[in-house]
Amino acid sequence: MPNTQNQISPLRVGIAGLGTVGIGVIKIITQHAEMLASRTGRTIEISAVSARSKGKDRGVDLSAYAFEEDPVALAKRDDVDLFIEVIGGDEGPAKDAVVVALQAGKDVVTANKAMLAIHGHELAQLAESKKVSLRYEAAVAGGIPVIKSLTEGLAGNKITRIMGVMNGTCNYILTRMEETRQGYNALFNECAELGYLEADPNLDVGGIDAGHKLAILSSIAYGTQVDFSNIHLEGIQEITLQDIEHVAEMGYKIKLLGVTQLTENGLEQRMTPCLVPASSPLGQLSGGTNMVVIEGDSVEQVVLRGPGAGEGPTASAVMGDVIDIARGIHLPVFGIPAEQLSKAQPASCTAPAPYYLRIPLHNKAGALAQMATALGDCDISIAHLHQYEDEFDAAKASVLIVTEACSKQALQTALGKMEGTSVLAGTPIAIRIEAV
Ligand code: HSE
Repeated sequence: MPNTQNQISPLRVGIAGLGTVGIGVIKIITQHAEMLASRTGRTIEISAVSARSKGKDRGVDLSAYAFEEDPVALAKRDDVDLFIEVIGGDEGPAKDAVVVALQAGKDVVTANKAMLAIHGHELAQLAESKKVSLRYEAAVAGGIPVIKSLTEGLAGNKITRIMGVMNGTCNYILTRMEETRQGYNALFNECAELGYLEADPNLDVGGIDAGHKLAILSSIAYGTQVDFSNIHLEGIQEITLQDIEHVAEMGYKIKLLGVTQLTENGLEQRMTPCLVPASSPLGQLSGGTNMVVIEGDSVEQVVLRGPGAGEGPTASAVMGDVIDIARGIHLPVFGIPAEQLSKAQPASCTAPAPYYLRIPLHNKAGALAQMATALGDCDISIAHLHQYEDEFDAAKASVLIVTEACSKQALQTALGKMEGTSVLAGTPIAIRIEAV
C-alpha cells in the first residue's frame, strides 16, 4: 500500500539562532515529529542550524544537523525550504539572512518584531513578489496567537481599536512594585538578575519593544504600512511607588498600554503608561503575562491573554507558522497584498479622557491654588485631589489630581502654565485614564 505521507516531500527547515527560542523550536520539531506529520501531512525535518558558537552546550543534540556560522549561508542552502530566523535585531545578520532567503524564493518564519516594525513593508513586498510566505506570529505577544486571530479569525470585522499589554518585563516591574512596595530601581535590578531584560533594557522599559509589536498589529488591523516611527512612546521609568499606591486607592492600576485606533483624523498609535480600572481584565493582569484586547464592529470585544515570552510559548508561536507553511497555507504578509497597504496618516489622540497628575510642589502657601488655577484657566475640572508631604523633605509636597475628561491639548497648556509658576519642585507627570 502506498505511504500517502511520503507522497509530499518533507519540509526542510534551517534555524538561524540557537538561543532560547531556537532551542524551543528544535525540541518541538523533534519531540512531536509524529504529531506534526499527522497534522500537516508531511514530515518536518531540520537540515541545518546557525549560531555564533558551535561548541556551546545547549542541552539538545545538534549533531544530526549541518552547522553554518553565517546565517546568510544557511539561508542560501539548497536543503533548506523554510528559513526560521530567531536571531533578533532590526539590522545586521538577521535581516540580511531574511532578505537572502526571500530572494532565493524560500518561505521565512521570524520572531523579529524590531525588523518587522521598521522594515516590514519592504520585506512584505519582497516576499509577495517572490510568492513566498513571511510569517511572524512569535513577534507579537509571545505565545498568544494574535496575528492569526487578526488575519484569520477576526478578518470579517472592521477593527475599531486594539489595546495591549505586550511587554512582560514592564508588567512584571509594575505589578511587583505594588506587591513588594519597592521602587522602580529595585525591581529593574530584580529583572536584570532574573534575565528578563533585553540586551538593551531601554527596549523594554522605554516602551520600544512593545511599540514594535503595536506597529505590526496596526498594519494588519487597518491595512496600513507598518509605521513605527509615528508611535507616541513613553516608558515606565518615571512611575513611582507612590503613584502605584495612590492610584490603587482610587481603584486603578498603572499599565504600559498600547492603543491603536484609526479615527477620522488618522492613525493614532501610542504606547504609554495608562491607568485602567483595577477590576478590568487589563487591570487584573499581573506579572510577565501579556494581554491583547481586540475590538471589532461585529465581534465587539475579544480578550487574549497568555505568556509573552519564554522558550515554550515563543516556540509554540513559531511552530504555528511552520505548520501553516507545511500545510500549504499562504496569506499576504499583513493580511492584504503589500501593494494595497495604504500609507497611514499619523494622528495624535484627540479624544478627551480623564488624567492622573502628580505635581511635585514646594510646600508653601498658595502653591496648590496656583495649580488649580492653571487647570481652571484651561477649563479642566478637578475630580479628586490629594496632597502628601515628601517623606524625606518637609519643604516639598506632591499634589495628586485626577481630572475630569479633558483634551490632551488643554492639559498640555495647563502643564505649561504650571511650569511658568515658581512653585514646582520637579516636572509634573500626567497619565491618561483609558476607558477599557
Ligand atoms: N522583552 C519582551 C518582554 C519579550 O519582556 O515582554 C520579547 O519581546
